[in-house]
Amino acid sequence: MNFIGSKYLKENDQKSMNIIKTFDDYQQQYQRSIENPEAFWSDVANDFVWRKGWEKVLEWDFHNAAAKWFIGGKLNITENCIDRHLPTRANQTALIWEPNDPKETSRYITYQELFERVCQVGNMLRAHGIKKGDRVCIYMPMVPELTYALLACARIGAVHSVVFAGFSSGSLVDRINDSGCRMVITSDGAYRGDKKIGLKSIVDEALLKCPTVEKTIVLERTQTRVVMKPERDFWWHDEISKASTNCPAEEMDAEDLLFILYTSGSTGKPKGMVHTCGGYMVYTNYTFRTAFQYQDKQVYWCTADVGWITGHSYIIYGPLSAGATTVMFEGIPSWPDMGRFWHVIEKHRVNIFYTAPTAIRSLEKAPLSFVDAYELSTLKILGTVGEPINEEAWHWYDRNIGKGHCPIIDTWWQTETGGFMITPIANVTKLKPTFATLPLPGVQPAIMDERGNEVTENGVEGRLTIKFPWPAMARTIYGDHQRFRDTYFSTFPGKYFTGDGCKRDEDGYYRITGRVDDVIIVSGHNMGTAEIESAIDEHSAVCETAVVGYPHDIKGQGVYAFVICYDKPHEEDKLRQEIREMVAKIIGPIAKPDKIQFVSGLPKTRSGKIMRRILRKVAEGDVSNLGDTTTLLDPAVVDEIKAGAL
Ligand code: WTA
Repeated sequence: MNFIGSKYLKENDQKSMNIIKTFDDYQQQYQRSIENPEAFWSDVANDFVWRKGWEKVLEWDFHNAAAKWFIGGKLNITENCIDRHLPTRANQTALIWEPNDPKETSRYITYQELFERVCQVGNMLRAHGIKKGDRVCIYMPMVPELTYALLACARIGAVHSVVFAGFSSGSLVDRINDSGCRMVITSDGAYRGDKKIGLKSIVDEALLKCPTVEKTIVLERTQTRVVMKPERDFWWHDEISKASTNCPAEEMDAEDLLFILYTSGSTGKPKGMVHTCGGYMVYTNYTFRTAFQYQDKQVYWCTADVGWITGHSYIIYGPLSAGATTVMFEGIPSWPDMGRFWHVIEKHRVNIFYTAPTAIRSLEKAPLSFVDAYELSTLKILGTVGEPINEEAWHWYDRNIGKGHCPIIDTWWQTETGGFMITPIANVTKLKPTFATLPLPGVQPAIMDERGNEVTENGVEGRLTIKFPWPAMARTIYGDHQRFRDTYFSTFPGKYFTGDGCKRDEDGYYRITGRVDDVIIVSGHNMGTAEIESAIDEHSAVCETAVVGYPHDIKGQGVYAFVICYDKPHEEDKLRQEIREMVAKIIGPIAKPDKIQFVSGLPKTRSGKIMRRILRKVAEGDVSNLGDTTTLLDPAVVDEIKAGAL
């Protein structure tokens, strides 16, 4: 291997240029990142192993939704996540795996073992004809083999597309077909608390409609009976036993695809966000080290699922590229009891704990004895992500988990941004509850007013945009650059529009207020209201539907559906149940509506547009002031809807 990053061998004293220890450092580096972004990012990128150095740091044009980083650079991200650590960390634990059932044994995977397993899986994929550029769908539970599968794809240059194992076969079909996957890697089943879910049978159903998939590899996890289709389906354990532990890494261009990950939009089908190798690697590593101030040998635990961007960036790529010890948890916070998270922290002596507000809110409802039963004194830093954290949850987390001495790192970012954007830096940034605080170096936010102008002063509120590229930004929507441009770069020409509302206070601190489009965030999962509506409309009794979000104590937002049926339903509860099942089948259980109100009409303008503003108010239970309803085609429907509100 020809290592270009000259500093890599002195790994422990690397990154001196861009280490932030004080608020002054932050301000200086922020300033430099704005004045000379190319020099700034070039220094950060120099700390990696490149097969060939880049010729140019950045080319961009937001009017065409374009950005390229480290142009001409060649690398393989797995050499940075694994190989380069072997001289110093071969025996250090890379991955701690905590199973769903606490009675099952945890697994500790060293960097050396990670190397061997990833190589074996890489060779297994190659033996089945997978090569650079091919798309591979991964639909698996949170087991170490999932990490091996992602990294193995990256090693041989295949593009992984992970689909969260809670999605239904319908969602799987859409995602597989959209990116034309050649292979699916799955398992017989998955454990989820006291439940078992048959993943392979969901894949079987999906594959009836996926002509591009030639083969599947099936990991045995739950000993669930499965049907193996000859020539198409292969057992992981059979194939892996034939594979060698040496798998030369494919040389990738910095701008070659690393992965596709689907996210919901306000309209239509999910968008396959495309991330590329070089910029994503540099950025996830930098942001992980900086925001959490990760110190060598610390145990870090992010509770997300690898099916979401948080798992990609901050269970796998960021921590492993930084040589960290990262925990991967298969289970759920509430099983066998509400103390599970705290038990895991005690058991693995976790130092940095990163979770979602929805988890905090549900655990907050349990008696404190579940927390107090465990030793949490190893904790140094807490994190949160996925939705705005409410004040009460923030203080509960601070007081009961951090015991008042662990900074809460409220990281604002998105699938599209690849990594943290606005976040405190642990022990550097002064915190304010519920504020994501300040942009990281390299991130240039701009708040836009109603008329589309940037507001530059403090003490303002508006829509959050980013006006300069950062290395991990998504490059496009797979197969649909026009949609990428329309969705993110047309609302405010020349700027990336996040879809979020935001306040900037007198100190210049940012507080994210939530989505301003038709995306709702339920238990930290993004969902397009249009997606749920079309799933409900599949029910033969349903004529038309409008879905909105409403504030929910634990989930953050709940799903409220207003449904018009062809005939007035006789048994409303039975129909509700059928509709919920329908949504679970088409999208997945996470999208099931919490409330379904049957109505005879929807508030539409004369041009036929549903006035969602009114429906949101009704769903929120705030019907006193619905604003102007005179432009409605039939203002009477509003009274009916108000009267029937749930
Ligand atoms: C929301 C998750 C407030 C936001 C990484 C964003 C947040 C969407 C925060 C992206 C936060 C994420 N405070 N809101 N700290 N983090 N969000 O793509 O609305 O699943 O646009 O990425 O989650 O969700 P996604």
